[in-house]
Amino acid sequence: MRTIIYTGKGGVGKTSLAAATALASAAHGHRTLVMSTDSAHSLGDSLQVSLGRDPTKVTDRLWGQEIDVLAEMERHWAEISNYLTALLQSQGVEEITAKEVVVIPGMELIAALLLLERYEREKSWDVAIVDTAPTADTLRLLSFPDAVQWYFDRFFKLEKRMMKVARPTVGRLMRTPLPSDRFFESLEDLYLRFRRVRNMLSDPDRTSVRLVLNPERMVITETQRAYTYLCLFGLPIEMLVVNRVFSDQLDGKFFEQALAEQKANLGLIEEYFGGVPMRRSPRYPHEVLGLERLRRLGTDVFDAEDPTRIFARAQPVRFFSRSGKKYVKIELPFAGEEALEVSSRGDTLYVKVGWYRRTLLLPYAYIGAKLGKAVFSGGSLLIEFLPSKEVPQHAS
Ligand SMILES: Nc1ncnc2c1ncn2[C@@H]1O[C@H](COP(=O)(O)OP(=O)(O)OP(=O)(O)O)[C@@H](O)[C@H]1O
Ligand SMILES: [Mg+2]
Repeated sequence: MRTIIYTGKGGVGKTSLAAATALASAAHGHRTLVMSTDSAHSLGDSLQVSLGRDPTKVTDRLWGQEIDVLAEMERHWAEISNYLTALLQSQGVEEITAKEVVVIPGMELIAALLLLERYEREKSWDVAIVDTAPTADTLRLLSFPDAVQWYFDRFFKLEKRMMKVARPTVGRLMRTPLPSDRFFESLEDLYLRFRRVRNMLSDPDRTSVRLVLNPERMVITETQRAYTYLCLFGLPIEMLVVNRVFSDQLDGKFFEQALAEQKANLGLIEEYFGGVPMRRSPRYPHEVLGLERLRRLGTDVFDAEDPTRIFARAQPVRFFSRSGKKYVKIELPFAGEEALEVSSRGDTLYVKVGWYRRTLLLPYAYIGAKLGKAVFSGGSLLIEFLPSKEVPQHAS
């Protein structure tokens, strides 16, 4: 299954482009699902079709789906949510609130990620196109499988052993309920699924992230930020779609200035993102609602080309070795050197860029190796690992 994720700042046209791409994909003969992970679902409005929480047929070879978190939780993680609810109740939280607390904000995307994992496993679709909430939320959540893996690796096995021993004695004394074995089974299942999601998301042959933006300074800045963080999390950015581009044929004083500004901003986009495949779509004199207008948008972006083609195979994180030393290379365009921190402990590499921190689990071959030099140049961070006995000469 090929997964294409559309993301970008609020209001730039993510939903329209996801819907347009899905229509074009179906027209190219692919069995396509377009899925909305934004709790403010507007995919149905865009397609002008009423969509449900299960895939709803839109047109030939095209289905649409708006994720319903509560339903997903109940369907798949009853054990986990029952336990969490019971735990909260034992602490005096009322049932209704407890159920609400269990659904953490942004759960839509988590539910969507797990659903994607299932779709891929069951080979349900040729192509899944994901329409997301604005970038900040999406970024946090795309990094979620990474974080989950880290926590599970550290605590899961230990926790399970402790619970086995603790149950008979502690269970009788305390009001706090102890989780059942079924709870651990669902947790283990969840863990394995997140690991598969993680692999799927970082594989450029299966997943592509497409960033939508408009030729406006504030949007460009947020897009740069998103680009860096997506790279940091190892997600393959495959394309940029510059939406709402005014045609040069507009005239009049107002448009003279708007066009001049747009021209400068298009220049900036070229300068910042040169090398990433890029498409443009025009600013229309109307909203892009309904199948006909969405088809037109699809044609304006992709022409007659198959929109599900892999336009680039980005590899933001690479592990390799050269003359006896091992390296990790992380593409971090736009990151400033001063904002970077690198450290490692055991099998974990920590890279901090501004407020975001990536916890990268190192491949087995890197475990026990000492962190050597970390050099940031030309938008990429090269981190050296020395064989454990060797002492770094210019460690920094
Ligand atoms: N190229 C365009 N020309 C004119 N109108 C457009 C264009 N692209 C999108 N629109 C309109 O702009 C509005 C916002 O678009 P859309 O919902 O696709 O953005 P979004 O990025 O998904 O927003 P949100 O962040 O709220 O989810 C919609 O009314 C849509 O029809
Ligand atoms: Mg949207």
